[in-house]
Amino acid sequence: MNILIISGSVRTGRKSHDVAVELAKRFKQHGCSSTQIIDLATYNLPVLEEQYGESENKIKGLDDIQQKLDQADAMVFLSPEYHGSYSGALKNAVDYFSAEFKRKPIGVVAVGAGRLGGINASTEMQQLVLSLGAYPMPYKLLVSNVQYAFDEKGELKDDQLSKSMDKFVTEFVWLTDAILDKKKKENQ
Ligand SMILES: Cc1cc2nc3c(=O)[nH]c(=O)nc-3n(C[C@H](O)[C@H](O)[C@H](O)COP(=O)(O)O)c2cc1C
Repeated sequence: MNILIISGSVRTGRKSHDVAVELAKRFKQHGCSSTQIIDLATYNLPVLEEQYGESENKIKGLDDIQQKLDQADAMVFLSPEYHGSYSGALKNAVDYFSAEFKRKPIGVVAVGAGRLGGINASTEMQQLVLSLGAYPMPYKLLVSNVQYAFDEKGELKDDQLSKSMDKFVTEFVWLTDAILDKKKKENQ
């Protein structure tokens, strides 16, 4: 099972990326052999002018992102909540592509500094997943008060969040297994 987490916070001093790193760790502990993170902060993508493949691509890193999306069996969209929605960086990156998402299970993780754990961003990300022709996982991970969730070394110290993460991983693997099974039968 090839899982790809798209980490959608590129802000200096960001907190959401700690959640992405911890989640990747949990997938590995759960036995998922391949879990990768696309850290959008390392790509610095320009605002979309042309989708991937429309002309000869000269944007650094875009081939790499395309390859990772294409190879993924399932994805996680992880974003901070900004002004009641998910990050512009995530939307911009997603908009470069289309076919790479089709019929893939996608889980959403929203991160907020308040008590509501990015609930608005999570709902809008699920809407985005539907628009991509992908399957949004019903169970979503909402991370509230993220500024208190990790210690200075980036270690998770919130027990409730730890339990929610494990539930998210279990649900995600269940859904991905079911969809992979169906695809395998179709190819027999
Ligand atoms: C421009 C901006 C808008 C924000 N809007 C919200 C919001 O609508 N709701 C919320 O819970 N937190 C909001 N926050 C706080 C973020 O959720 C907080 O920064 C959190 O740490 C996750 O984002 P980060 O990965 O950038 O750190 C906002 C932060 C920024 C920078």
